[in-house]
Amino acid sequence: MDKIEHIGIAVKNLEKSNALFSKLFGAEHYKVERVEREGVSTSFFQVGPNKIELLEATNPDSPIAKFLNKKGEGIHHIAFAVEDIHGEMARLQAEGFTLLSDEPKPGADNKLVVFLHPKSSNGVLIELCQERT
Ligand code: CO
Repeated sequence: MDKIEHIGIAVKNLEKSNALFSKLFGAEHYKVERVEREGVSTSFFQVGPNKIELLEATNPDSPIAKFLNKKGEGIHHIAFAVEDIHGEMARLQAEGFTLLSDEPKPGADNKLVVFLHPKSSNGVLIELCQERT
């Protein structure tokens, strides 16, 4: 596993939160991307070397909607960059972690992504992401 690729924050209203976080960071978001299959609309901020992803639900069955209902707004996941997502998935599975899908899926920002079940990682939702080439 490599560096933290980004931190994901669940928000109720992407437009309002884009305005709020652009004040906080002193920089505008650089992209908005809807991933309909995952039921999310996302925006990205670059803060120095770090990337922050805001996530809004696009429908009531979205995992983000469920998260917001249960926990409210806040940090949703931490994403780590990996070079070989299939290799990391096999390694983590062998270590006893639970993956939320058998295959990596196309995610926002040109990535292949997979999530680990937070129950197997002390309540922290971990995302692995590999740059799509
Ligand atoms: Co993410």
